[in-house]
Amino acid sequence: MDRDAAEKRPTLMTLSDADLEALAALEVAHGWVTAGSFTRLAASLRAPETLVFGLVVDEAVVGYAAVDRQPFEAELQAVLVDARWRGRGLARRLLAEVVEQARAWGSERLLLEVRVGNASAIALYRGAGFEDDGIRRGYYPPRQAGAVREDARLMSLALA
Ligand SMILES: CC(C)(COP(=O)(O)OP(=O)(O)OC[C@H]1O[C@@H](n2cnc3c(N)ncnc32)[C@H](O)[C@@H]1OP(=O)(O)O)[C@@H](O)C(=O)NCCC(=O)NCCS
Repeated sequence: MDRDAAEKRPTLMTLSDADLEALAALEVAHGWVTAGSFTRLAASLRAPETLVFGLVVDEAVVGYAAVDRQPFEAELQAVLVDARWRGRGLARRLLAEVVEQARAWGSERLLLEVRVGNASAIALYRGAGFEDDGIRRGYYPPRQAGAVREDARLMSLALA
């Protein structure tokens, strides 16, 4: 990222199929997908019940959040900010957009799961008013071969 880009304010927009490569580049940099295995991302961008919000600078996606509409609730699927853009309130901005969208859908609650060890994400969610609903044991596959599965913390924000 050059200095000019670092000084820009990213534009918040709803992402579509056309943004698949830029979104995948962000995930590849974070290690969430490997180059060429974009099926999950492509499905999210196409699913009628999913909205993907992105923060874009010079056609690069520097952060995104995905939310699913369910019959009575909404579920946050992911929030990711480029490591070079963290600590500037971008995740908070994305989450506020997700909350606004869930309210617009008339969802009763916004739900999420997060790795119990993900302190920065848990602080983000608590700061936005999410409350703890319990632990789901062994929910996440191990990060490396030989490691144990990780528990999920279930959290929710009442909207109604
Ligand atoms: C978690 C993550 C999305 C935060 O993004 P960010 O843009 O840096 O967050 P923001 O600058 O908007 O910070 C908002 C709040 O989040 C919390 N937070 C963010 N980074 C933090 C850190 N390193 N340590 C502790 N709390 C942190 C704080 O409560 C912060 O509020 P504050 O600035 O008033 O203290 C980012 O670190 C990330 O992409 N992590 C990898 C992906 C991930 O784990 N996603 C969540 C699970 S899907």
